[in-house]
Amino acid sequence: MTTHEREQWLQGPGAQCGPVAALQNPYRLVLLGAPGVGKGTQAELLHQKLHACHLSTGDVFRAAAKSLHELSPAMQAATEYMRRGELVPDSTVWEVVRERRGCLHCGAGFILDGFPRTLGQAESLKQLLEEEDLSLTAVVNYELAEAEIIARLSGRRTCEKCKAVFHVTERPSKTAYVCDRCGGQLFLREDDRPESIKIRLEAYKHSTAPLIAFYQRLGLLMPIAAMGLPEQIFEKTVLALYARRVA
Ligand code: AP5
Repeated sequence: MTTHEREQWLQGPGAQCGPVAALQNPYRLVLLGAPGVGKGTQAELLHQKLHACHLSTGDVFRAAAKSLHELSPAMQAATEYMRRGELVPDSTVWEVVRERRGCLHCGAGFILDGFPRTLGQAESLKQLLEEEDLSLTAVVNYELAEAEIIARLSGRRTCEKCKAVFHVTERPSKTAYVCDRCGGQLFLREDDRPESIKIRLEAYKHSTAPLIAFYQRLGLLMPIAAMGLPEQIFEKTVLALYARRVA
């Protein structure tokens, strides 16, 4: 499976992914952490290693914002919330996830990135997984100081085509503004402007940080320090996941 085979997730339930080899014991993960901590970067590395499908709710809203089709009023409003750095209302997020619930059955497993983000979303996901007879392997919580988070967000550049993520100094593309992977153009996300970053960090503290205690109570929380090179953080994550499997 390649990173491009996320059609069903990105375009909606009518789209088809390519064939996926079913794994015997797939990983089903949630990635938690403040905006810019590196969840998307880790999700891509984990996808390459574990083959689980990278499912990002932010990517769905960004794809909608660029879509040439007319958006529903709720999706139109969602793109405005995102631009300002505010959380999209739970009802809209839940509609997006619920109609793509087939992706949770991906034979290669899944990596949820950016969802759930409120206690309401976490409760809804828990109930949906129970209904679908699926369980999470772990909830990885990436931890990083706020100053480093702001530096990562301000230097981020994203590919408009394949969504690959770079950083102007820490993870630069070989050619400026051009994606190494697909040749697409790299752009600065609108919500990576300083005023939106501030709002996003507040939303994280207020609405998402309480999920740490929620998943701790369920025995699923796996904290990982997110300082250092992406490959080092990835290695720590994989080792902790393997240790969890054999424990
Ligand atoms: P979303 O797309 O989920 O954004 P986010 O959570 O704010 O996370 P980011 O994508 O900003 O950061 P990341 O942690 O993935 O970091 P990355 O790997 O890119 O959501 C966007 C918006 O959509 C939300 O604000 C909201 O409006 C809406 N939304 C989405 N889901 C929602 C939900 N469930 N409920 C409500 N609203 C929702 O890395 C950042 C940068 O750092 C990159 O440049 C990268 O190259 C660099 N970097 C990564 N790792 C390292 C490292 N180890 N060292 C140095 N640099 C690094």
